[in-house]
Amino acid sequence: MKNGEVLLDIRNLTVEFNAGKGRKVCAVSDVSFQMAKGETLGLVGESGCGKSSLARAIIQLPRPASGQVNFNGEDLTAVCGKRLRRLRPRLQMIFQDSIAALNPRRKVGQTIAMPLNIIRKGRREDRIAMAREMMKAVGLDPQSSDRRPFEFSGGQCQRIQIARALMAEPELLICDEPVSSLDVSIQAQIINLLENQRTRRGLTMLFISHDMAVVKNVCDRVAVMYLGKLCEIAPAQDLYQTPAHPYTAALISAIPSPDAGLSQSRTHLKNAEIPSPLNPPSGCRFHTRCPRTRPLCYESEPVLRDNGQGKQVACHFPLRIDLNPKIKKLISRAGYRLGNSTLLLGLLSYCFSS
Ligand SMILES: Nc1ncnc2c1ncn2[C@@H]1O[C@H](COP(=O)(O)OP(=O)(O)O)[C@@H](O)[C@H]1O
Ligand code: SF4
Ligand SMILES: [Mg+2]
Repeated sequence: MKNGEVLLDIRNLTVEFNAGKGRKVCAVSDVSFQMAKGETLGLVGESGCGKSSLARAIIQLPRPASGQVNFNGEDLTAVCGKRLRRLRPRLQMIFQDSIAALNPRRKVGQTIAMPLNIIRKGRREDRIAMAREMMKAVGLDPQSSDRRPFEFSGGQCQRIQIARALMAEPELLICDEPVSSLDVSIQAQIINLLENQRTRRGLTMLFISHDMAVVKNVCDRVAVMYLGKLCEIAPAQDLYQTPAHPYTAALISAIPSPDAGLSQSRTHLKNAEIPSPLNPPSGCRFHTRCPRTRPLCYESEPVLRDNGQGKQVACHFPLRIDLNPKIKKLISRAGYRLGNSTLLLGLLSYCFSS
């Protein structure tokens, strides 16, 4: 984690939903992590693993089944009424489906000014002027403040959502798949906008995506989620270069790359099917798909452990450093140049074999 003050401290968070016939689906199961002020944390994992449920539980919509959400030292799960209403604007969320997230009947200027109405900031004319200023800041034409959401494109609707979230002057911005429904060319514009606003306003950001390639360039650290649990948290560069959890390695090896066939070693999963969160596998939840499963994995659930270098992993048999074949090739060339190739290569392949 970035050095500095902790803004968000999630402890043993569990989110459950009724699944009919008296059954419960545990969408988020005993999740704990921290975020420092000013940090951008990526949250990745396949669809249905519980990312949105975790995000909504942070803003208490709906409240989690158990656990704590400490925001600036105050447990949001324990506050209600006026106090919660006062705290809520400080945590804002941007949703994947921007069109559904906007009221179709409301003019976008009014939508963007809405947080100011809620916190009762300024007079009516001031709020409208501030909304127009914000439209300019996020790249929207202030002249279009009287139009309705259906008159805007998907990318513009996402800008409207961002403008509305920023009006509340939040400390924490949760972006739930903010670019997944947009064209690739528009994705880059929205990511740049978020990045600019984050830097300008010193925001702390939880950036959720199922796309590892998108998260790579945006986040300081990345948390990987599988079937309601966190399996690895590490600084972004570290996670992409030397994943410790087999699931992280599989997600990274699935990132399309122009020379994937030549340079990327693929991690193949045993089974493509994600088990149901209604009936998660025993022991390690990933054992039905993991290529490294051993008997212990069926019996005992691995806990998220710190390796002492800022990386946390929940696996009984984490991967060791597995270098990219290109780097291995460079090392082998260096070995020949040094003239003692056999010994050097032998030592290196021993050290770096997974
Ligand atoms: N309101 C709900 N009622 C019942 N089940 C839900 C509800 N919301 C989410 N779930 C279930 O919780 C699990 C996690 O869903 P979600 O948090 O949306 O995952 P993600 O955002 O990673 O795609 C899924 O199995 C989903 O079906
Ligand atoms: S604990 Fe076992 S099954 Fe789970 S990820 Fe690690 S090696 Fe695979
Ligand atoms: Mg989701």
